[in-house]
Amino acid sequence: MTYETIQVRRVTGGCGAEISGVDLTRLSNRQWDEVRRAFVDHGVIFFRDQDLSPEQHIQFARRWGPIDINRFFTPVEGYPEIAEVRKEKAQKTNIGGGWHTDHSYDPAPAMGSILLAREVPDEGGDTLFASMYAAYEALSDGLRQTLEGLRAIHSDEHVFGAKGYHKQTADTVGRIGNAHAVRGDVTHPVVITHPESGRKALYVNPGFTVRFDGWSEADSKPLLEHLYRHATRPEFTCRFRWTPGALAFWDNRATWHYAANDYHGEQRLMHRITVAGCTLS
Ligand code: SIN
Repeated sequence: MTYETIQVRRVTGGCGAEISGVDLTRLSNRQWDEVRRAFVDHGVIFFRDQDLSPEQHIQFARRWGPIDINRFFTPVEGYPEIAEVRKEKAQKTNIGGGWHTDHSYDPAPAMGSILLAREVPDEGGDTLFASMYAAYEALSDGLRQTLEGLRAIHSDEHVFGAKGYHKQTADTVGRIGNAHAVRGDVTHPVVITHPESGRKALYVNPGFTVRFDGWSEADSKPLLEHLYRHATRPEFTCRFRWTPGALAFWDNRATWHYAANDYHGEQRLMHRITVAGCTLS
């Protein structure tokens, strides 16, 4: 279906579309309907030069649904709804530097994340996305049937817990915290039906999935690793080069993302709002 009030250009055959011809602070109803459709169709949508104030960022997010405040990220001062995704010049680790799906550790994972670029390095700091529709659809019939009956355990503990990947060190302090807010294991189907598109998508991810429900970690590992290798085939992915004021909105039910950590010695500051979602089936 074509678009009449916005311009939509696909980034790759795998996922992603860049939208132009809109000011996100003044969307007409028809533009809003088309932006919504592009989000569902492409899994992640990108906009340039949308220098939104924090209030406008929050207002845009609320059009999509209630805000799901992340319990581990340091918020922007005065705006608890906005999480800071920050890396300072002297810091080595970045946030989101591995393939993952935001909030899959929650019983009702966030439906989407709206990331706005405040400060970007001259080179590097791109974000990569992978389509979990494309990954699912390219699996063999036999494996698709096997996965349909499975659920998987996801957890926040190995990432945000006191001993997790983002445990408190000089490098993480002030960026990620609240290890006490870890809630541990939740389960989701391994294949979900997207609540808006009706399409099936693979719903496990390297960041937060621990094992298949009823399987040990050792038994789960070979199949999970196979799925992870498969899901990141280049033809399922796209890559976004940030510019100040650019905004990406991705669908956590249909994509994974990965923040490239290739800009040591430079600063990168992004503002992220996560929009609440529902339980997945
Ligand atoms: C995230 O994983 O939510 C952050 C992505 C990024 O900073 O590019």
